[in-house]
Amino acid sequence: MKEKLEQLKKEVLEKLKVIKDIQVLRDLEIKYLGRKGELTLLLRQLSDLSLEQKKNIGSAANDLKLELAEKFKHAAELLESEKKNDFVDLTLPGEKINRGRLHPLTIVQNELEDIFTSLGFMILDGPELESDYFNFEALNIPKYHPARDMQDTFYVTRTNTDLTRTNADKTASDLVLRTHTSPVQVRAMQKYGAPLRCVVPGRCFRSEATDARHEHTFYQLEGLMIDKDISWADMKGVLEVIVQRLYGPETKLRMRPKFFPFVEPGNNGEVTCFICRGAGCRLCKQTGWLEIVGSGMVHPNVLRAGGVDSKVYRGFAFGFGLTRLTMLKYNINDIRLLNGGDLRFLEQF
Ligand code: PHE
Repeated sequence: MKEKLEQLKKEVLEKLKVIKDIQVLRDLEIKYLGRKGELTLLLRQLSDLSLEQKKNIGSAANDLKLELAEKFKHAAELLESEKKNDFVDLTLPGEKINRGRLHPLTIVQNELEDIFTSLGFMILDGPELESDYFNFEALNIPKYHPARDMQDTFYVTRTNTDLTRTNADKTASDLVLRTHTSPVQVRAMQKYGAPLRCVVPGRCFRSEATDARHEHTFYQLEGLMIDKDISWADMKGVLEVIVQRLYGPETKLRMRPKFFPFVEPGNNGEVTCFICRGAGCRLCKQTGWLEIVGSGMVHPNVLRAGGVDSKVYRGFAFGFGLTRLTMLKYNINDIRLLNGGDLRFLEQF
Protein backbone atom coordinates (compact mmCIF):
# COMPACT_ATOMS: atom_id res chain seq x y z
CA MET A 1 0.00 0.00 0.00
CA LYS A 2 2.75 2.41 0.97
CA GLU A 3 4.49 1.68 -2.28
CA LYS A 4 1.36 2.38 -4.22
CA LEU A 5 1.09 5.77 -2.57
CA GLU A 6 4.74 6.54 -3.37
CA GLN A 7 4.22 5.44 -6.93
CA LEU A 8 1.14 7.64 -7.28
CA LYS A 9 2.94 10.67 -5.83
CA LYS A 10 5.82 10.26 -8.25
CA GLU A 11 3.46 9.90 -11.17
CA VAL A 12 1.51 13.04 -10.30
CA LEU A 13 4.57 15.20 -9.66
CA GLU A 14 6.12 14.18 -12.96
CA LYS A 15 3.00 14.99 -14.90
CA LEU A 16 2.62 18.34 -13.14
CA LYS A 17 6.07 19.33 -14.34
CA VAL A 18 5.16 19.16 -18.02
CA ILE A 19 1.61 20.46 -18.02
CA LYS A 20 1.11 23.64 -20.03
CA ASP A 21 -2.65 23.78 -20.30
CA ILE A 22 -5.05 24.67 -17.51
CA GLN A 23 -7.76 22.31 -18.75
CA VAL A 24 -5.40 19.35 -18.86
CA LEU A 25 -4.38 20.26 -15.31
CA ARG A 26 -7.99 20.25 -14.09
CA ASP A 27 -8.64 16.89 -15.76
CA LEU A 28 -5.56 15.48 -14.08
CA GLU A 29 -6.69 16.74 -10.69
CA ILE A 30 -10.01 14.99 -11.10
CA LYS A 31 -8.29 11.84 -12.28
CA TYR A 32 -6.27 11.60 -9.07
CA LEU A 33 -8.07 13.55 -6.38
CA GLY A 34 -11.65 13.54 -7.63
CA ARG A 35 -14.48 11.56 -5.99
CA LYS A 36 -13.67 8.61 -8.19
CA GLY A 37 -10.02 9.52 -8.43
CA GLU A 38 -7.16 7.12 -7.98
CA LEU A 39 -6.12 8.36 -4.56
CA THR A 40 -9.68 8.26 -3.31
CA LEU A 41 -10.01 4.68 -4.47
CA LEU A 42 -6.80 3.79 -2.69
CA LEU A 43 -8.10 5.34 0.51
CA ARG A 44 -11.26 3.27 0.22
CA GLN A 45 -9.16 0.13 0.22
CA LEU A 46 -7.93 1.05 3.72
CA SER A 47 -10.91 -0.75 5.24
CA ASP A 48 -9.34 -4.08 4.32
CA LEU A 49 -6.32 -3.37 6.48
CA SER A 50 -5.58 -3.97 10.16
CA LEU A 51 -6.17 -1.19 12.64
CA GLU A 52 -2.46 -0.52 13.05
CA GLN A 53 -1.94 -0.27 9.30
CA LYS A 54 -5.03 1.85 8.89
CA LYS A 55 -3.66 4.45 11.28
CA ASN A 56 -0.25 4.47 9.66
CA ILE A 57 -1.15 4.46 6.02
CA GLY A 58 -4.35 6.43 6.52
CA SER A 59 -2.59 9.49 7.83
CA ALA A 60 0.14 9.19 5.20
CA ALA A 61 -2.52 8.98 2.48
CA ASN A 62 -4.35 11.99 3.88
CA ASP A 63 -1.13 13.96 4.04
CA LEU A 64 -0.43 13.03 0.44
CA LYS A 65 -3.91 14.14 -0.57
CA LEU A 66 -3.38 17.54 1.06
CA GLU A 67 0.10 17.85 -0.40
CA LEU A 68 -1.04 17.04 -3.91
CA ALA A 69 -4.03 19.37 -3.66
CA GLU A 70 -1.59 22.12 -2.72
CA LYS A 71 0.64 21.23 -5.69
CA PHE A 72 -2.28 21.35 -8.10
CA LYS A 73 -3.33 24.73 -6.77
CA HIS A 74 0.18 26.05 -7.17
CA ALA A 75 0.50 24.68 -10.71
CA ALA A 76 -2.83 26.30 -11.65
CA GLU A 77 -1.70 29.66 -10.31
CA LEU A 78 1.51 29.38 -12.26
CA LEU A 79 -0.33 28.64 -15.49
CA GLU A 80 -2.75 31.53 -14.93
CA SER A 81 0.03 34.03 -14.36
CA GLU A 82 1.93 32.76 -17.40
CA LYS A 83 -1.18 33.28 -19.43
CA LYS A 84 -1.40 36.88 -18.25
CA ASN A 85 2.28 37.43 -18.96
CA ASP A 86 1.79 36.27 -22.54
CA PHE A 87 -0.60 39.11 -22.97
CA VAL A 88 1.89 41.81 -22.11
CA ASP A 89 5.08 40.21 -23.28
CA LEU A 90 7.19 43.33 -23.59
CA THR A 91 9.97 41.46 -25.30
CA LEU A 92 7.86 40.71 -28.38
CA PRO A 93 8.72 42.96 -31.32
CA GLY A 94 6.03 45.59 -31.85
CA GLU A 95 3.72 45.68 -34.82
CA LYS A 96 5.01 48.24 -37.29
CA ILE A 97 2.50 50.98 -38.01
CA ASN A 98 2.98 52.60 -41.38
CA ARG A 99 2.56 56.33 -41.07
CA GLY A 100 1.23 58.38 -43.95
CA ARG A 101 3.15 61.38 -45.18
CA LEU A 102 2.49 64.65 -46.95
CA HIS A 103 2.47 64.81 -50.72
CA PRO A 104 5.32 67.00 -52.05
CA LEU A 105 2.75 69.43 -53.48
CA THR A 106 1.18 69.75 -50.04
CA ILE A 107 4.56 70.41 -48.45
CA VAL A 108 5.26 73.31 -50.83
CA GLN A 109 1.69 74.58 -50.52
CA ASN A 110 1.96 74.60 -46.71
CA GLU A 111 5.25 76.46 -46.93
CA LEU A 112 3.75 79.16 -49.16
CA GLU A 113 0.63 79.43 -47.01
CA ASP A 114 2.82 80.06 -43.98
CA ILE A 115 4.70 82.84 -45.73
CA PHE A 116 1.53 84.51 -47.00
CA THR A 117 -0.38 84.34 -43.73
CA SER A 118 2.62 85.99 -42.08
CA LEU A 119 2.09 88.87 -44.54
CA GLY A 120 -1.60 89.13 -43.66
CA PHE A 121 -3.11 87.25 -46.62
CA MET A 122 -6.26 85.15 -46.17
CA ILE A 123 -6.27 81.66 -47.65
CA LEU A 124 -9.30 80.98 -49.85
CA ASP A 125 -10.72 78.13 -51.84
CA GLY A 126 -12.83 77.99 -54.98
CA PRO A 127 -14.67 75.45 -57.13
CA GLU A 128 -12.70 73.25 -59.52
CA LEU A 129 -15.76 72.90 -61.75
CA GLU A 130 -16.15 76.57 -62.58
CA SER A 131 -18.56 78.57 -64.68
CA ASP A 132 -17.40 79.81 -68.04
CA TYR A 133 -18.20 83.25 -66.68
CA PHE A 134 -15.77 83.23 -63.74
CA ASN A 135 -13.05 81.29 -65.52
CA PHE A 136 -13.02 83.46 -68.64
CA GLU A 137 -15.52 86.24 -69.07
CA ALA A 138 -15.14 87.97 -65.72
CA LEU A 139 -11.40 87.85 -66.31
CA ASN A 140 -11.69 89.91 -69.46
CA ILE A 141 -11.60 86.93 -71.81
CA PRO A 142 -14.78 87.17 -73.88
CA LYS A 143 -16.31 84.24 -75.77
CA TYR A 144 -14.72 83.68 -79.20
CA HIS A 145 -11.81 86.00 -78.29
CA PRO A 146 -8.43 84.64 -79.44
CA ALA A 147 -7.13 84.97 -75.85
CA ARG A 148 -9.13 81.82 -75.05
CA ASP A 149 -6.62 79.83 -77.06
CA MET A 150 -4.00 80.38 -74.33
CA GLN A 151 -5.89 78.05 -72.04
CA ASP A 152 -7.84 75.22 -73.61
CA THR A 153 -9.78 73.15 -71.15
CA PHE A 154 -12.50 70.55 -70.63
CA TYR A 155 -15.96 71.90 -71.25
CA VAL A 156 -18.65 70.18 -69.26
CA THR A 157 -22.27 69.94 -70.33
CA ARG A 158 -25.00 69.51 -67.78
CA THR A 159 -27.11 66.46 -68.46
CA ASN A 160 -30.47 67.80 -69.42
CA THR A 161 -33.24 65.71 -70.83
CA ASP A 162 -35.29 68.71 -71.87
CA LEU A 163 -36.34 67.64 -75.38
CA THR A 164 -37.36 71.12 -76.37
CA ARG A 165 -33.72 72.20 -76.41
CA THR A 166 -32.09 72.37 -79.79
CA ASN A 167 -28.93 70.40 -80.52
CA ALA A 168 -26.92 73.61 -80.43
CA ASP A 169 -28.24 74.29 -76.90
CA LYS A 170 -27.30 70.84 -75.75
CA THR A 171 -23.68 71.19 -76.79
CA ALA A 172 -23.33 74.76 -75.55
CA SER A 173 -21.42 74.50 -72.28
CA ASP A 174 -21.47 76.90 -69.39
CA LEU A 175 -19.23 74.87 -67.11
CA VAL A 176 -15.50 74.27 -67.42
CA LEU A 177 -12.82 72.60 -65.36
CA ARG A 178 -11.03 75.76 -64.25
CA THR A 179 -7.87 76.46 -66.20
CA HIS A 180 -6.31 78.57 -63.45
CA THR A 181 -7.03 79.77 -59.92
CA SER A 182 -7.69 83.30 -61.19
CA PRO A 183 -11.52 82.98 -61.18
CA VAL A 184 -11.32 83.09 -57.39
CA GLN A 185 -10.01 86.67 -57.71
CA VAL A 186 -13.46 87.77 -58.83
CA ARG A 187 -15.29 85.50 -56.39
CA ALA A 188 -13.20 86.90 -53.52
CA MET A 189 -13.87 90.52 -54.52
CA GLN A 190 -17.59 89.83 -54.76
CA LYS A 191 -17.61 88.21 -51.35
CA TYR A 192 -15.20 90.38 -49.34
CA GLY A 193 -14.98 93.64 -51.29
CA ALA A 194 -11.98 95.95 -50.94
CA PRO A 195 -9.42 96.27 -49.40
CA LEU A 196 -8.44 92.63 -49.82
CA ARG A 197 -5.44 90.37 -49.37
CA CYS A 198 -5.83 86.70 -50.24
CA VAL A 199 -4.13 83.67 -51.74
CA VAL A 200 -5.82 80.69 -53.35
CA PRO A 201 -3.99 77.40 -53.71
CA GLY A 202 -5.76 74.84 -55.86
CA ARG A 203 -6.09 72.32 -58.63
CA CYS A 204 -6.41 73.40 -62.24
CA PHE A 205 -6.97 71.60 -65.52
CA ARG A 206 -6.07 72.09 -69.14
CA SER A 207 -6.56 70.08 -72.25
CA GLU A 208 -2.96 69.05 -72.76
CA ALA A 209 -1.23 66.25 -74.58
CA THR A 210 0.49 64.66 -71.59
CA ASP A 211 4.25 64.27 -71.46
CA ALA A 212 7.05 64.75 -68.92
CA ARG A 213 6.40 68.51 -68.79
CA HIS A 214 2.66 68.75 -69.48
CA GLU A 215 -0.22 67.38 -67.48
CA HIS A 216 -3.99 67.91 -67.71
CA THR A 217 -4.17 68.34 -63.92
CA PHE A 218 -1.81 70.64 -62.03
CA TYR A 219 -1.70 73.11 -59.12
CA GLN A 220 -1.43 76.87 -58.89
CA LEU A 221 -1.36 79.40 -56.09
CA GLU A 222 -3.18 82.60 -56.89
CA GLY A 223 -2.68 85.87 -55.03
CA LEU A 224 -4.60 89.12 -54.95
CA MET A 225 -4.05 92.36 -53.10
CA ILE A 226 -6.38 95.33 -53.45
CA ASP A 227 -6.21 98.69 -51.75
CA LYS A 228 -6.32 102.41 -52.43
CA ASP A 229 -2.79 103.12 -53.57
CA ILE A 230 -1.34 99.83 -54.60
CA SER A 231 1.39 100.18 -57.20
CA TRP A 232 3.50 97.95 -59.36
CA ALA A 233 6.31 98.49 -56.81
CA ASP A 234 4.16 96.94 -54.06
CA MET A 235 3.70 93.90 -56.26
CA LYS A 236 7.40 93.52 -56.89
CA GLY A 237 8.11 94.04 -53.19
CA VAL A 238 5.72 91.31 -52.08
CA LEU A 239 6.88 88.85 -54.72
CA GLU A 240 10.51 89.55 -53.83
CA VAL A 241 9.86 88.74 -50.17
CA ILE A 242 8.17 85.51 -51.19
CA VAL A 243 10.92 84.24 -53.47
CA GLN A 244 13.64 85.22 -51.00
CA ARG A 245 11.89 83.28 -48.25
CA LEU A 246 11.53 80.34 -50.62
CA TYR A 247 15.01 80.28 -52.13
CA GLY A 248 17.21 82.38 -49.82
CA PRO A 249 17.94 86.11 -49.30
CA GLU A 250 20.36 86.44 -52.21
CA THR A 251 17.67 85.41 -54.72
CA LYS A 252 16.86 88.08 -57.32
CA LEU A 253 13.53 88.59 -59.05
CA ARG A 254 13.20 89.99 -62.54
CA MET A 255 9.99 90.79 -64.34
CA ARG A 256 9.48 90.68 -68.06
CA PRO A 257 6.40 91.88 -69.87
CA LYS A 258 3.82 89.23 -70.65
CA PHE A 259 0.24 89.45 -71.83
CA PHE A 260 -2.57 88.15 -69.65
CA PRO A 261 -6.04 89.54 -70.48
CA PHE A 262 -6.89 90.12 -66.79
CA VAL A 263 -3.91 92.32 -65.87
CA GLU A 264 -2.39 95.46 -67.30
CA PRO A 265 0.55 95.60 -67.37
CA GLY A 266 1.31 91.91 -67.09
CA ASN A 267 4.61 90.23 -66.29
CA ASN A 268 6.40 86.97 -66.08
CA GLY A 269 8.34 86.74 -62.83
CA GLU A 270 11.66 84.93 -62.95
CA VAL A 271 14.11 84.15 -60.14
CA THR A 272 17.84 83.47 -60.22
CA CYS A 273 18.31 79.78 -60.78
CA PHE A 274 18.94 78.21 -57.38
CA ILE A 275 21.10 75.46 -58.85
CA CYS A 276 23.69 77.55 -60.72
CA ARG A 277 22.96 80.84 -58.95
CA GLY A 278 22.59 82.60 -62.29
CA ALA A 279 25.61 81.19 -64.09
CA GLY A 280 23.53 79.04 -66.44
CA CYS A 281 22.84 75.32 -66.22
CA ARG A 282 20.58 72.61 -67.57
CA LEU A 283 17.72 73.39 -65.19
CA CYS A 284 17.44 77.02 -66.32
CA LYS A 285 18.32 76.16 -69.91
CA GLN A 286 21.53 78.21 -69.62
CA THR A 287 19.62 81.44 -68.97
CA GLY A 288 20.36 81.71 -65.24
CA TRP A 289 16.66 82.43 -64.61
CA LEU A 290 13.66 80.29 -63.70
CA GLU A 291 10.13 81.32 -64.64
CA ILE A 292 7.83 80.70 -61.68
CA VAL A 293 5.07 83.30 -61.47
CA GLY A 294 2.75 85.30 -63.71
CA SER A 295 1.56 88.62 -62.35
CA GLY A 296 0.29 92.09 -63.10
CA MET A 297 -1.90 95.01 -62.08
CA VAL A 298 -5.54 93.93 -61.98
CA HIS A 299 -7.40 95.07 -65.11
CA PRO A 300 -10.21 97.60 -64.41
CA ASN A 301 -12.70 95.28 -66.13
CA VAL A 302 -11.86 92.58 -63.60
CA LEU A 303 -12.26 94.98 -60.65
CA ARG A 304 -15.63 95.93 -62.08
CA ALA A 305 -16.69 92.28 -62.41
CA GLY A 306 -15.77 91.90 -58.75
CA GLY A 307 -17.91 94.88 -57.78
CA VAL A 308 -14.90 96.98 -56.79
CA ASP A 309 -14.77 100.67 -57.76
CA SER A 310 -11.83 100.87 -60.16
CA LYS A 311 -11.66 104.65 -59.72
CA VAL A 312 -10.90 104.25 -56.00
CA TYR A 313 -9.11 100.91 -55.77
CA ARG A 314 -6.21 99.27 -57.52
CA GLY A 315 -4.56 95.94 -57.02
CA PHE A 316 -2.12 93.37 -58.20
CA ALA A 317 -2.57 89.68 -58.84
CA PHE A 318 -0.17 86.83 -59.34
CA GLY A 319 -0.28 83.13 -60.04
CA PHE A 320 2.51 80.80 -58.92
CA GLY A 321 2.85 77.47 -60.66
CA LEU A 322 2.66 75.36 -57.52
CA THR A 323 3.37 72.22 -59.50
CA ARG A 324 6.36 73.88 -61.11
CA LEU A 325 7.70 75.13 -57.75
CA THR A 326 7.42 71.59 -56.37
CA MET A 327 9.20 70.06 -59.35
CA LEU A 328 11.99 72.62 -59.06
CA LYS A 329 12.36 72.21 -55.32
CA TYR A 330 12.66 68.42 -55.40
CA ASN A 331 14.28 68.11 -58.82
CA ILE A 332 11.36 66.06 -60.15
CA ASN A 333 11.89 65.49 -63.85
CA ASP A 334 8.49 64.09 -64.83
CA ILE A 335 5.29 65.92 -63.95
CA ARG A 336 3.25 62.71 -64.28
CA LEU A 337 4.83 61.35 -61.09
CA LEU A 338 2.89 63.89 -59.03
CA ASN A 339 -0.53 62.46 -59.84
CA GLY A 340 0.66 58.92 -60.48
CA GLY A 341 0.12 57.54 -56.97
CA ASP A 342 3.28 55.43 -57.19
CA LEU A 343 4.42 54.70 -53.62
CA ARG A 344 8.05 54.31 -54.68
CA PHE A 345 7.92 57.99 -55.60
CA LEU A 346 5.71 59.24 -52.78
CA GLU A 347 7.64 57.52 -50.01
CA GLN A 348 10.71 59.61 -50.77
CA PHE A 349 9.22 62.72 -49.15
N1 PHE B 1 -3.71 82.77 -64.38
C1 PHE B 1 -2.46 82.94 -65.06
C2 PHE B 1 -2.06 81.61 -65.67
O1 PHE B 1 -2.59 80.61 -65.31
C3 PHE B 1 -1.37 83.42 -64.11
C4 PHE B 1 -1.63 84.83 -63.63
C5 PHE B 1 -2.33 85.02 -62.46
C6 PHE B 1 -1.14 85.90 -64.32
C7 PHE B 1 -2.56 86.31 -62.00
C8 PHE B 1 -1.36 87.18 -63.88
C9 PHE B 1 -2.05 87.38 -62.72
O2 PHE B 1 -1.19 81.54 -66.53
